[in-house]
Amino acid sequence: MIYKFYHVTDVHYFSKKNFACDYRTMPQPSTQICITASEEAFLKALEIIEKDEETDTVIITGDLTNHGDAPSHEEMRTLLREFTERGGRPYVVTDIHDYPYFETYTVDENGKNVPAEHLEREEVVPTYYPFGRDKGFDSFDDDTTYIAEILPGLYYIALGYDEITIDGTAYPCFSDELMNWVKGHSEKIKEKGGILILSTHRPVVAPSPAYQIMGKGHTFAYGEKSLKQFADMGIQLFFSGHSHIQCMKEIVSEKGNKIYSIQTSALSGFPPKMRKITIDTEKGTTDIRTIDIDLPELNLGMSFTEYARKGFLGIIESIPYNMEHDVEAFANTEGGISLPKELILKHPKTVMYLGKKVNGITYAKLAKFSKKYHNLKESDYAEVKDKKFVDLAMEIVANLYRGNAAYSPDTVEYKLMMGSVKKIEKLLSLLHIDITKALSGYTLSEFIEPLLYNSGLDDDNLTLSTDFR
Ligand SMILES: [Fe+2]
Ligand SMILES: [Fe+2]
Repeated sequence: MIYKFYHVTDVHYFSKKNFACDYRTMPQPSTQICITASEEAFLKALEIIEKDEETDTVIITGDLTNHGDAPSHEEMRTLLREFTERGGRPYVVTDIHDYPYFETYTVDENGKNVPAEHLEREEVVPTYYPFGRDKGFDSFDDDTTYIAEILPGLYYIALGYDEITIDGTAYPCFSDELMNWVKGHSEKIKEKGGILILSTHRPVVAPSPAYQIMGKGHTFAYGEKSLKQFADMGIQLFFSGHSHIQCMKEIVSEKGNKIYSIQTSALSGFPPKMRKITIDTEKGTTDIRTIDIDLPELNLGMSFTEYARKGFLGIIESIPYNMEHDVEAFANTEGGISLPKELILKHPKTVMYLGKKVNGITYAKLAKFSKKYHNLKESDYAEVKDKKFVDLAMEIVANLYRGNAAYSPDTVEYKLMMGSVKKIEKLLSLLHIDITKALSGYTLSEFIEPLLYNSGLDDDNLTLSTDFR
């Protein structure tokens, strides 16, 4: 059998009704999500699916709207209804961005955000049942988990989750009851000769050490253990969103059973992506293909990926320049790390000096700094010696979300960065400063290396070996 379907996540749909100004002429908002184009991105995704003659089926794993306001929900449901009427087969769930969890706002005449009304969770969840849970044949004793046969013989469970507090931080987790409910279904499906796949909104395992630290409480507690339990039930594919990070991971249980965690980036975030999945039971493979969303019809003057990057990382990217040339603007970003604005404005000369120093770091200077920690000869980096460290640093931040990163261990960038990291680690140890605690047990090298290159599975396109027989 061959099964084909799409995975779309974190649509963050933001109704155009929320703009009192002309969203086409307002400056690009500095947000993680392109709120001015999330509608177009979703329409594009639906169009891609509809044009595909091989499948009409799509799983959409939560954060359907940007913050749960009524107009966005209404339009999202209309789009799903119309998609369904045209033959589309969506299987959706809602998650935190669909409820009043974050600040709800509209944009006024001057392009400023103003607080707005939101819907309560109970008002939202059931309104999406026609596009998911109602198409299933069983549901768990919560309000989101359901199981449906999304293609003949292909069963899909959209999992909800509980919460557990560890050391004062709340983490999502799967209850024993839910695990048993999944196990019961997995056994029945196996008897019938079917295949079971799973999803939940949040990442069950962290895509990288950086996300584990920055997104504390967003990744599941005991996630790896849960995935191993699912693997031992014979389940091999697990889909998630929420982190807005493109990531593929393989987890192998102690019994030798493997499961793949497939995390897809936000449809209207950076990078804007969706995936097409093809399971071939004869060949024992699952092919994963990534589709970059592009919106040439919006005349953005750049690809939608670049535009999304500008909206999301623009502020961070402007920090080194502002430090040197515009201290006031730098103060308004609180230094990018919540430094008190007054402190920055009180010491403009120091800030400008530091900015100049940081901006002045070239590859040649990095090479000199980390001389004993790389084996590069001057001729190895002569061509790139004037390249700026700040540009490399911004690429590294972008790599956190892209997954795949271009700086393999044989590149100058890898050698200079890892050499410098090793030198910093040495200096810290001489000063008896231990930062592993601040990095959740990771060393600085373990934190930085995955952002330079991906030593694991390709995060975008690959063929997995999945033997469902
Ligand atoms: Fe999201
Ligand atoms: Fe989310």
